[in-house]
Amino acid sequence: MSNILAVGIATLDIINTVAAYPREDEETRALVQSRARGGNATNTLVILSQLGHVCSWAGVLPREPDAQVVVDDLDRHGVDMAAVQRPESGKLPTSYIALSAHTGSRTIVHYRDLTEYDFSAFDELDLASYDWIHFEGRNISELAKMLNRVRQAGVACSLEVEKPRDGIETLFDLPDVLLFSRAYAQSAGFNSAEDFLCSRSWVQPAFVAWGQAGACCRTTDGEVLSAPAPVVDVVDSLGAGDVFNAGVIDGLLRKQPVQEALGNAVRLASGKCARKGLVI
Ligand code: FRU
Repeated sequence: MSNILAVGIATLDIINTVAAYPREDEETRALVQSRARGGNATNTLVILSQLGHVCSWAGVLPREPDAQVVVDDLDRHGVDMAAVQRPESGKLPTSYIALSAHTGSRTIVHYRDLTEYDFSAFDELDLASYDWIHFEGRNISELAKMLNRVRQAGVACSLEVEKPRDGIETLFDLPDVLLFSRAYAQSAGFNSAEDFLCSRSWVQPAFVAWGQAGACCRTTDGEVLSAPAPVVDVVDSLGAGDVFNAGVIDGLLRKQPVQEALGNAVRLASGKCARKGLVI
C-alpha cells in the first residue's frame, strides 16, 4: 500500500446511454441518464484506492452545488482532499456524454469555466509524504514547475499525455513514466502503438493504451513490449484509459516487471469496459 497524489481534474459527468450514437441534427431519446463524478486524475485515484492505496487529490473544486457529487464520491472512496483549492467562483467542469449501448463507445462534449490548479498551491505540499505523484498533462507552464519540484524532491512520478496541447512535448523528459493515449499518438500521425513508441527515444518507460488492441510499453532499453486485450463485451468504455493508468502505477509501485504491470493494466481496463462505472 502506497501514498499516491494525483494532480488534475474532477468533473460532473452527465451520461446519456443511447441505443446507438446519433447522427448530426438527429433527435434521439436516452435509454438511461446518470450523473457521476468524472475527470481523469480523480478517476485514476478512485481505482488506485480500490487497489488498496492511500490516495490524495490536488485540484480545483469550486464552491457551487454540483461540487457535492465530487465530494461524495471521493469521500466514499476515501480520497483525501486536503490539497484541493475551493474558489468561490467558477463552475465544476461538466462533460455531456453519449454512451452507446450498441458499441460501448463514449462521445464527450466537455465544458470548462474554472481556474487551473497552479504551482503556488502545489509548492505548499509536503512532497516527501507521497510515494508516487501522478499528473494530468494540462496547464503546461505550471506543470513544468511542478514536475521539476518533484524531481528535486526525488519522488517517483508519472505524466498522462492524453490530448495534444501546446508545448506538452517540453515536459516529456521530466517524469519517471509517460502514459500516452491512443488519441495523442494518432494526433501525432501514428496508426499503431509500436510506431508511435519507436518514433523517438524516451528517457523513461513510455506506455500507450490502444483500446481493444491492448497496450504497449517501450522500456528504457528500447524494447517494445505489448499486451493484447482480452475479448470482452464492451458496455462502458468511459474512463478506461484512466483505469489503465492506475493499473500501470499500481504495478510499478508493487515492483512488478514492466511486462507484468502492462498486462495487469490492460486486464484491469478491459474488465472495467465490461462493467458500468469505475468498478474493477
Ligand atoms: C474520462 C473522463 C471523464 C471526464 C472527461 C474529461 O476519461 O475523465 O470522466 O468527463 O474524461 O476529459
